[in-house]
Amino acid sequence: MIMKKLITIIEEKMQKAFAEAGYEEKFGRVSVSNRPDLCEYQSNGALMAAKQYKCKPIDIATKVTEVLKNDEAFINVDAVMPGFINFSLNQKFLSDYLMEMAGASKFGCLDLGEGKTIVIDYGGPNVAKPLHVGHLRPAIIGESIKRIKKYAGYNVIGDVHLGDWGLQMGLIIASMKELYPDMPFFAPDYNGEEVSEVPFTVSDLEVIYPNASKRSKEDEAFKEAAHEATKKLQEYDKGHYALWKKIIDISVNDLKQNYKKLDVDFELWNGESDAQPYIPDMVKMMKEGGFAVESQGALVVDVSKEDDKKEIPPCIITKSDGASLYSTTDLATLVEREEKYKPVQVIYVVDKRQEMHFTQVFRCARKTGIVRPETELTYIGFGTMNGPDGKPFKTRDGGVMRLENLIGDINDAVYNKMSKQEGMSDEERREIADIVGLAALKYGDLSNQAAKDYVFDVERFTEFEGNTGPYNLYMMVRITSILRKYKAASGATDEDIKSYVINPAGTDAEKKLQRTLSTMSDTIEAAAVENAPHKICQYIYSIADSFSSFYHDVNIMNEPDEAKKKGYIKLITLTHEILADCINLLGFKEPERM
Ligand code: ARG
Repeated sequence: MIMKKLITIIEEKMQKAFAEAGYEEKFGRVSVSNRPDLCEYQSNGALMAAKQYKCKPIDIATKVTEVLKNDEAFINVDAVMPGFINFSLNQKFLSDYLMEMAGASKFGCLDLGEGKTIVIDYGGPNVAKPLHVGHLRPAIIGESIKRIKKYAGYNVIGDVHLGDWGLQMGLIIASMKELYPDMPFFAPDYNGEEVSEVPFTVSDLEVIYPNASKRSKEDEAFKEAAHEATKKLQEYDKGHYALWKKIIDISVNDLKQNYKKLDVDFELWNGESDAQPYIPDMVKMMKEGGFAVESQGALVVDVSKEDDKKEIPPCIITKSDGASLYSTTDLATLVEREEKYKPVQVIYVVDKRQEMHFTQVFRCARKTGIVRPETELTYIGFGTMNGPDGKPFKTRDGGVMRLENLIGDINDAVYNKMSKQEGMSDEERREIADIVGLAALKYGDLSNQAAKDYVFDVERFTEFEGNTGPYNLYMMVRITSILRKYKAASGATDEDIKSYVINPAGTDAEKKLQRTLSTMSDTIEAAAVENAPHKICQYIYSIADSFSSFYHDVNIMNEPDEAKKKGYIKLITLTHEILADCINLLGFKEPERM
């Protein structure tokens, strides 16, 4: 069941009050007060209405408050000079609202998507190259946005969009011709038959590619051979294609395991190669439609606009030798996505240094009608992950950090910070450190706006205090432990707790906790619409923080009033459930204990 947002309910009541007092509804706007010491909510509608009704704002405010005072949802309703309406919520109204949330699926969060499809393109690793820190951000941010959009009701298809075509593949194949000349793929009479054993592994691939890339810069003949191999692959020569498939299989297998460690998962393991069959028709369409023109031998589409502040160069469709490029592939991939999924939106989570590329591709796709006018194309350019020196993150000796080493470092840091606990084996401590480490890593990244550069600070990210992944998990684990104790002591089951009733808040801390919980739908909406996981981070932290003060103020287990105690138990159960859904949206999990 979808619930109205609390602020919407309040605003509707305010509008009704304006109408009953004889004014237009539209003036009944409400905002959360920025002076919580005076009131929780405020409306300055009377100030706006005064002009239209040619009277004093305070008179309007007074009339409206007369009506509002009859509504049991509100307390402390006041008209204040020069014409503000200040008021607070009846705590019973708030706790009833939370009870309704507790009983609703997804806590009553709105359904923005209604099953509409979104394609999200994130990951973008290149085959045969190990995952390194540069692949961390698209994976973490993309996965979170995907989960948020799903939660908001969309059907979301995540595509890893492998870099699996082009010269890099030719370089590898050309090297292999020298290294493994006896592979059946190179035999002149190879006819596409299945080859089960190949002499290379992922580790070989990881050595072959960088060597080949380096060599092609010094060795003309080799460079020529690599181009030749690329061309043969792109002409779907049987041997080249079958070898390429083997390379892809081995590489993808390894990538899958690596992404799994990050708890990142793709619906589609497509690559640039999958778009190739769409290119010929697309180019034909662009030519016939008069969109693509020749320029210095190349085929280009002008994508500049009159009001451009800086120059946007034409989008190159094919080079003078007829070869396609990065932009060609991205355009053809859009053709494919439109054809297969008819998405309402295609989102790209790619390094912000590729902004120009996406500006050109998007404009070209619109101009040439590859996407329907209503298809939204969104580029989320993320910033760089820097080291403590403010420069792009490197290993200690200045090399590119492999992802698995980085994950290892952060897990070690968590492991070392965990206090030795009785009855916890070293193995268990390691397992917990891995779960908490992933949370530290993801939260450290996602709590920043994606577009900003940020400093990857292992020490800070793994703190158990402050705005970190581990701190938030720690609060969850604490709730789990209280609930465990409560159930053991009282014999209550989960089913019993379901029937408990949250009471109107007694203390300020409890009030704050209840109010924060009540804004979940607003948070999910903002995060989904703005593609902003950091809003979920802020939300989680404010829940964890208000829970912490609440927990400090009351003594749940020793509360003598049974109804009160049950109310607390229900409240922290809801707190925990909401936190659990939220951390899942960020892509991490709660450990059993920590
Ligand atoms: N493989 C590309 C790179 O390494 C990233 C791909 C991003 N996605 C896309 N549709 N262009 O730069």
